[in-house]
Amino acid sequence: MSRINLLSQRLANQIAAGEVVERPASVVKELTENSLDAGASRLEIEVEQGGTKLIKIKDDGLGIHKQDLELALSRHATSKITDLEDLENIASLGFRGEALASISSVSRLTMTSTAGDDLNAANGDNSGWKVVAEGQEMNVILSPAAHSRGTTVEVRDLFFNTPARKKFLKTEKTEFSRIDEILKRIALSRFDVQFSLTHNQRAIRKLLPAKSDQEKQRRVALVCGPAFVENSVFVEMEGQGLRLWGWVSLPTFSRSQADLQYFYVNGRIIRDKLVTHAVKQAYRDVLFHGRHPAYVLYLELAPSAVDVNVHPTKHEVRFRDSRLVHDFLFSSLHKALAELRPSDQLVENVQNSDPFAAMQSGGVGGAFTAGSDSSYAAGNFSDQSRLSLAGPSSNSYSYRPNTGQPDVNAIQSQMENFAKLTADDAEVPPLGYAIAQLHGIYILAQNKEGLITVDMHAAHERITYERMKTACQNEELKMQPLLVPLSIALSQGEADCAETEKEPLLTIGIEIERVAAESIVVRQVPSILRNANIEQLVRDVLSDVLEYGSSNRIQAHQDELLSTMACHGSIRANRHLTIPEMNALLRDMEATERSGQCNHGRPTWVYQSLNELDKLFLRGQ
Ligand SMILES: Nc1ncnc2c1ncn2[C@@H]1O[C@H](COP(=O)(O)OP(=O)(O)OP(=O)(O)O)[C@@H](O)[C@H]1O
Ligand SMILES: [Mg+2]
Repeated sequence: MSRINLLSQRLANQIAAGEVVERPASVVKELTENSLDAGASRLEIEVEQGGTKLIKIKDDGLGIHKQDLELALSRHATSKITDLEDLENIASLGFRGEALASISSVSRLTMTSTAGDDLNAANGDNSGWKVVAEGQEMNVILSPAAHSRGTTVEVRDLFFNTPARKKFLKTEKTEFSRIDEILKRIALSRFDVQFSLTHNQRAIRKLLPAKSDQEKQRRVALVCGPAFVENSVFVEMEGQGLRLWGWVSLPTFSRSQADLQYFYVNGRIIRDKLVTHAVKQAYRDVLFHGRHPAYVLYLELAPSAVDVNVHPTKHEVRFRDSRLVHDFLFSSLHKALAELRPSDQLVENVQNSDPFAAMQSGGVGGAFTAGSDSSYAAGNFSDQSRLSLAGPSSNSYSYRPNTGQPDVNAIQSQMENFAKLTADDAEVPPLGYAIAQLHGIYILAQNKEGLITVDMHAAHERITYERMKTACQNEELKMQPLLVPLSIALSQGEADCAETEKEPLLTIGIEIERVAAESIVVRQVPSILRNANIEQLVRDVLSDVLEYGSSNRIQAHQDELLSTMACHGSIRANRHLTIPEMNALLRDMEATERSGQCNHGRPTWVYQSLNELDKLFLRGQ
């Protein structure tokens, strides 16, 4: 074994850089975070050759004093914390005091800065100072330089001295798109800050400060695409010291990949298993199988309730009370999605300028395509009055044989309804009045602004399902004792968990008892689940509880069964419905939770405004 040496400064920093500076995008992340921490209101980002040749970031923040410039480039030097207590209450994005030292050890970095109170100092315009770190010991060299208040960091030739790292870089285009993605994340974290990004001298993005709700929404549209904004709802909830707000996609605007998911904790973007799980659970009942929701969400809580010092890149956090956070996210989003009503979604799609888009979006499949301008469900940022939550009417559209006799009363009320469509002051329900049934599958209805097409089986299925769920809940969970109690062998950890969670498990209908260090006995289960694989279910529930602090597997499984029952118990295709029956179905849809999607997450209705229909026929063009 060779003798022990102290590493040179540069090598020590290069080792640290291994964790934090993975690629050009990581440099952009660290530098923009520094600028934001310095209170900047404007950031100009210049990139050349995917960031490998140059990354230059100029801000108008507080700047750095001459005496501090030297320290700024050294490791373990930060202005953001001083003691352990600070570490537990972090409000800034940075705190490790190593980003600049790391970046500077694997590139040619210069930093020029003018601190607010150095302006107009003795050396006039040249009030700023420029700093570079040279050699193995990274000795700092300072020289005067002109700079307005704020800081500019230039990072040239990234990884020029670490060829192994350089080899891992992808094409210029890929590296730049990663930088752009970082900028998007940062831009959504601070609406009040202006951002510009150029690549090879070409302007790529310019985002003006967004103050009003409308401006914020515009920024979200610029970053996530207009279709996301049109197909999402704004949510805002507060309670138990937590606040959640942001935009979540309608269930029908789902994506094949989990790529449009932005989640911020106190302004810091994170990727967290617990968060992903909670959101996924909230969408469970309404999302098409295998699809992913899209969202831009902000969680705010006391800095002391979250530990950000978990990972060098700070992409992960640890919540002190993870169960509380999980349950809050789940229940807030679950409620928001359940409350969606047709009236929330019937906002005309103003961006839809392609005459043929309406044609595509009219199709059910169109509603699933992220890129398409789906007219099915437009965003709801207006304060439309919500429909009453009164339960659905009784099953007035249940099948009755058609006698072939015209019903005079029905015709009378149909004429009255249609008269309302043209009357100025008459109230017309969001899904309008039925006109006809198409091929025994679809209901055509008109409201004041356009045409509604309803998949009657899908719609009825959801209504039946929701009704069954309510009935099931109201009746309290009926438990059924197992004829032969089921004994399950578990690890000690799982058995401990089962024991401490005995009471909560009972509230979801499972009665268990610990009989040995590594085994439990299940005595009762919800009666609806009596034919399920109880052992698997209990194991899954326990592993959820261990990982996320709670489980809604029982609920999920129960819902699955109800959903199958609902599917079989719903109006099948090719049943003739009378106009009043169709109208009753429409009214029930308006009053039913999650009625926009069937139990499998497919849309139950689509809407085409007269404008969109006009475009389809090139009218007025
Ligand atoms: N753009 C800037 N404007 C003003 N001060 C800056 C700027 N960039 C860096 N600094 C100063 O330099 C210090 C070191 O920055 P560096 O990014 O290395 O560490 P940090 O931000 O404190 O922690 P972390 O390593 O977690 O990012 C900061 O604490 C800050 O005082
Ligand atoms: Mg930093």
